[in-house]
Amino acid sequence: MLVSLRFYDILAFITLLLLSRATGSLQEFDSSKNQLVLGNAQDSSASGISERLHQQFRTYADLVDISYCITSLTSIKKPFKCNVGCDKFPNTTVVYQWTTDSDAILDHSMLVSGYIAVDNLTRSIYVSLRGTKSFTDTLSDIEITQMTFANPGNHLSKCVNCKVHAGFYMTYRNTVGRIDPVLSDLIKLYPAYQVLFLGHSLGGAVAMLLPIHLIETQGFKNFRVVTYGQPIVGNEAFADWYEKSLDANGLLDSRLFYRITNIGDQIPTLPRSQISTPIIYEQVSGEIFLSQIETDIPKEAVWVCNGRSDRHCLKNSYFSADAHLIYYKKIGTCIPNINND
Ligand SMILES: *[C@@H]1O[C@H](CO)[C@@H](O)[C@H](O)[C@H]1NC(C)=O
Ligand SMILES: *[C@@H]1O[C@H](CO)[C@@H](O)[C@H](O)[C@H]1NC(C)=O
Repeated sequence: MLVSLRFYDILAFITLLLLSRATGSLQEFDSSKNQLVLGNAQDSSASGISERLHQQFRTYADLVDISYCITSLTSIKKPFKCNVGCDKFPNTTVVYQWTTDSDAILDHSMLVSGYIAVDNLTRSIYVSLRGTKSFTDTLSDIEITQMTFANPGNHLSKCVNCKVHAGFYMTYRNTVGRIDPVLSDLIKLYPAYQVLFLGHSLGGAVAMLLPIHLIETQGFKNFRVVTYGQPIVGNEAFADWYEKSLDANGLLDSRLFYRITNIGDQIPTLPRSQISTPIIYEQVSGEIFLSQIETDIPKEAVWVCNGRSDRHCLKNSYFSADAHLIYYKKIGTCIPNINND
């Protein structure tokens, strides 16, 4: 099957572009604009989150950021050492890590880089994914190709009329093939541990899909998905099915899926639908909106959104070039440190 990777690569390109200039800021954040566009919290239907959830999202952002330490030249050292906050996880051991980066400019392996680690303190198994750094094309070529998504329907209802982004889906399948043996062993070894599927950007799109395999093959439900700056994965039918399957509209503290967006981050609004074709992309619910571009965002600025595109959340946001890399902290700062061992 021929799958066009252009959109996928463009997204990676944008990420890389942002990473490469993460220290500069062409578009300064304008907080007065924030208020103008979004109104204020009083007239917002979006509500706040608990301190506990806030701290967890901050912790998971650290874990996602750490995935950027894995390149063809660098890795996370055992048990869990790196230069961007691994020491915050003292009882954690990285069990498996992988990367697709190579010295080749073209990398079409369709696999995101990431790691799996076990934390004895929080009794968690972390599966944390970042995007690829490969890119081939120019921005004018954004690719939106979809393919049919069909699940076996063993432990979930069947997804009917579902379509997903072809590049994301192939990457998901390849990633499952790569990590499933390791992850399944760990789940047997630590049956009481919760699995956390975490991902940023492209990694978020794959992290969102990963639990489907575990649910369908094992009926596994002791997990949580938290994505940061995740692009849109599928069509409306897929969004319906996914929300139902992962209780994305459920009670805030017990749902299985959280999709964190940042004001100004355009990636969660991509790919765009093509009404004429028609190729429709629709985000899923579960949005948690960071209403200020801040590395140390206060709890009050983190909003729980209603539905797929709450007008108080990212939907009505302006766009800022740096926002994709600021989720509770600056994401991707491990990159320039080639010798992190
Ligand atoms: C976690 O606990 C297991 C067994 O209880 C042990 O083998 C492993 O070394 C521990 N890992 C860490 C990082 O403490
Ligand atoms: C965590 O690590 C500390 C220091 O190595 C150790 O004393 C403690 O027993 C560990 N806790 C768990 C739950 O593994």
